[in-house]
Amino acid sequence: MPKVFITRRIPEIGPSKLRAQPGWEVRQWERDDVIPRDRLLQEVKGCDAVLTLLTERIDAEFLDAAGPQLKIVANMAVGFDNFDVAEMTRRGVIGTNTPDVLTDTTADLAFALLMAVARLLPQGERYVKEGRWKTWEPLGFLGQDVHHATLGLIGVGRIGAAMARRGAGFEMKVIYYDAFRRQDLEERFGYEYRPSVEDVLREADFVSLHTPLTPETRHLINSERLRLMKKTAVLINTSRGPVVDTMALYEALKNGVIWGAGLDVTDPEPLPPDHPLLTLPNCLVVPHIASASFKTRDAMSELAADNIIAVLNGRAPKTPVNREVVEQKGLR
Ligand code: DGY
Repeated sequence: MPKVFITRRIPEIGPSKLRAQPGWEVRQWERDDVIPRDRLLQEVKGCDAVLTLLTERIDAEFLDAAGPQLKIVANMAVGFDNFDVAEMTRRGVIGTNTPDVLTDTTADLAFALLMAVARLLPQGERYVKEGRWKTWEPLGFLGQDVHHATLGLIGVGRIGAAMARRGAGFEMKVIYYDAFRRQDLEERFGYEYRPSVEDVLREADFVSLHTPLTPETRHLINSERLRLMKKTAVLINTSRGPVVDTMALYEALKNGVIWGAGLDVTDPEPLPPDHPLLTLPNCLVVPHIASASFKTRDAMSELAADNIIAVLNGRAPKTPVNREVVEQKGLR
């Protein structure tokens, strides 16, 4: 009888599909907080599949605890920097993620952060609620124009490209750096390639990060690179917190090196309430909510469950991150 463990309360569509599989034993950490590591290691013992979130580290210790019958770990996230993919592959464990279904929802949030920081929405809201709004102020709440500004993308994969489409809708000039040049996007939409991160940082009015977290991208945005940006520029991060050196960003925002930042992800995450970044009026932080819409979270839950159902029924999962294991096992 296949055994599955789900590491958090998630939209019911995925767990329901798993429970509907005849003869499967499906258990779940039925809470909204992170399952303690020791409890997780106990719960996964003997499992054939585990449905995880980005808060669970899938490494040798986890794989040892689960045991040799573990076939798949299905992450309910597009990012999978919580996976030790090499170790999973070595042991023949398939990893899956949830790309595509969250692309537009994530780009919507990235663009919302961009607009909110550019036009001082959080400051304006506080001002009204604090009863300080007395008159129309010719010199009050002056922000940065979004329309016709230059949007600089670091990474133009699925979400980066969706952000570019939003920028184009606001008549922005779109420039990008990516390790893989996207001539298709250049020809079709007129986006302009720049040969380095530095070139994008120097030229853009808004810089949006859309790169996975890897050893190469950790602290990609550091104090040196922040100093290349315009004083009026805004940095948006919906990728992973450690792509930005947090204290370098704090210093840059505090000292007017750049104008503002909008962060969906932070390092550390969650950001403690007494963190210096939260004392800055020009930094908008939201709690890693880019994919948080009803429809998208349902789709993520369902895709993660579908991947498990496929593998435990001897079929290829839709979205593997280590396709070589799927091929070795001859799953189709
Ligand atoms: C992801 O999917 O990687 C996000 O960070 C959470 O939606």
